Amino acid sequence: MIQNIIKLLKPDLIEVQKIIQQQTAQCDSALLKEILSHTFQVKGKLLRPILHLACAHLLEPKDKAPFYKIAAGLEILHTASLIHDDIIDDGELRRGVQTVHKKWGLAEATLLGDWLLSKAFSVITHNNPSDCNPIMSQLTCELVEGQYLEIEYNNRSSQNLEYLEEQYLKMIDLKTGSIFRAACNFAIACNNDFTPKQKEALNLYATDFGMIFQIVDDLIDFGGNSKKYGKTTGYDFLNGLITLPVMNAIKFEEKTLDNSPILNAFQKSDNEYLSQNLHSRVHQTDALKITIQSVENLKVKSLSHLEVFKDTMGKKILSDLITYTISRVPQEFYMESKLTTNESI
Ligand code: FPP
Ligand code: MG
Repeated sequence: MIQNIIKLLKPDLIEVQKIIQQQTAQCDSALLKEILSHTFQVKGKLLRPILHLACAHLLEPKDKAPFYKIAAGLEILHTASLIHDDIIDDGELRRGVQTVHKKWGLAEATLLGDWLLSKAFSVITHNNPSDCNPIMSQLTCELVEGQYLEIEYNNRSSQNLEYLEEQYLKMIDLKTGSIFRAACNFAIACNNDFTPKQKEALNLYATDFGMIFQIVDDLIDFGGNSKKYGKTTGYDFLNGLITLPVMNAIKFEEKTLDNSPILNAFQKSDNEYLSQNLHSRVHQTDALKITIQSVENLKVKSLSHLEVFKDTMGKKILSDLITYTISRVPQEFYMESKLTTNESI
């Protein structure tokens, strides 16, 4: 599925890859060079560059150079955020290879994230429309704030589920939705022909896409196989993170029992209980079905925002990106929730 999207954008992605390679080769330190080549040896899914390029193709631009630079910068920035995220989560595996802090150490990984962040700033803002500058500053602040909210959320004292869910949605919007929105807003900054309605529609689409992406990522963390997804999974609950599938299970327990054993275990940081029981308890509830249903609802909503655009390759890719993202949900969850893949995707 992503392969079909990549095929459509192949000439563009070749240019983007060239810029990433050029930009990540410019350094004097042999150690930094070595770590950069380890980091970029496996290509990511290039989802953020693809999102940006798809927006560019909504209204075919004359000059594609700014879009290529921004697409490259988005991938470099995303990589920076993952290097820092792996430090925070103490992940072992990223894109199928050992994480930088595990292989070289904390100082090296922190500095690599800093270097890539600065590089992304320069690629995105240098000689590009000046509207890119505030978008970039807002984006990097939001990414960091999203991580702060995650820390606060993990150290929460409130047991109020409504409050927790609100916090969770805000957190995933900042840590994940922000870069999706920025990918669209950079495209808007590079082409004056977007109407106010289209600008608003793209922001709404990107916000829904960010939610879908993170909820799917949470489902993968809950049940996905580390090898298949190329990154450490099963980590969230050990760090006290109540993701949407788990929250739905807690809601079910509160409805059917007087209190929630899962929530109690989170409150007491009882990782032994969680390691032994969380999976089976979640599977005993309708939590996975409800979580998948909310992803499906978001899909309908996100696609409805695209109605203001003419049928172009860009619009097709924006729609396919949602389908692709949902197709990453571990298939056994679909079976379990008694939705067949065809019905639901
Ligand atoms: C992955 O989340 C991480 C993010 C979406 C954002 C991380 C942002 C920071 C660490 C802030 C610092 C930012 C910069 C620009 C240096 P996840 O842990 O849910 O996903 P995973 O399963 O892929 O690890
Ligand atoms: Mg992580």
